[in-house]
Amino acid sequence: MVRIRVPATTANMGPGFDVLGLALSLYNIYEFKDDPNSVLDDKNMIHRAYKYTFQAMGKDVVNAEITVEAEIPSSRGLGSSAACIAAGIMGANSIMGNTLDKEDILNIATQLEGHPDNVAPAIYGGLMISVMDEDGIVTNRLELSDDLRFIALVPEFQLSTAEARAVLPREIPLKDAVYNAGRVSILISALATGRDDLIFQGLKDRIHQPYRGVLIPDFDRIIEISRKFGALGSYLSGAGSTIMCIVKGDTGRFLSDMEKYLSRLPNNWRAIPLQPDYEGAVEL
Ligand code: HSE
Repeated sequence: MVRIRVPATTANMGPGFDVLGLALSLYNIYEFKDDPNSVLDDKNMIHRAYKYTFQAMGKDVVNAEITVEAEIPSSRGLGSSAACIAAGIMGANSIMGNTLDKEDILNIATQLEGHPDNVAPAIYGGLMISVMDEDGIVTNRLELSDDLRFIALVPEFQLSTAEARAVLPREIPLKDAVYNAGRVSILISALATGRDDLIFQGLKDRIHQPYRGVLIPDFDRIIEISRKFGALGSYLSGAGSTIMCIVKGDTGRFLSDMEKYLSRLPNNWRAIPLQPDYEGAVEL
């Protein structure tokens, strides 16, 4: 039997659309039990990634019963599909004798997911900066100051990535591209040098949030109030529907103020305090 644990991830982080992603302390655990009678279902992302990995290695697929203990809410912008992909590949890799390294796993995962921003931190942990190039994925990893906390505000409604990508424009005006390039640079430099005062400016985005915010009731109000309650900044996590708030140090006051505020809104929002995960996906 193989057991794989994979962290949740928060992608984009404001302006870093399809590029930035951070692993967080919320986990799914996947179990793969050798079972010749089980049937792999191509509609299931874990099964598909598992099967694809055997095929990519030119090996016969070993049928397995796959089960999940899930903490990561699905279709909420917290990387549940990236976790399934990473787990499927790592489960297959383990059964084949661990011949693939993390770089190979990331390349296969990106082929399946289409963009590397969730799968890279799901596999490596930490804050990953990832770009796709002809020869594969180019990545760098950043460790954050250890007093930063990430409070996930998770509504009860789901938002599919396909739906949230469909509302984006096909082309971006040059001034918006420049705007985002500047903000990503400010954000990464702020996180690398501990300039917390720049995080708010560094989270601004004109590529996806203005288009996606309308799909999320109370999006602008929640972002605005989070700042009043002391967040360094907030952003739409991945393709949504979760809103992520970055808070420094003790989160108690922020959490109680935010929970009180959210309880008055529709959609049963809940606030989950998290911290960065630096292990990434591991075999247990
Ligand atoms: N970068 C992706 C998006 C993350 O925003 O669509 C969600 O898969």
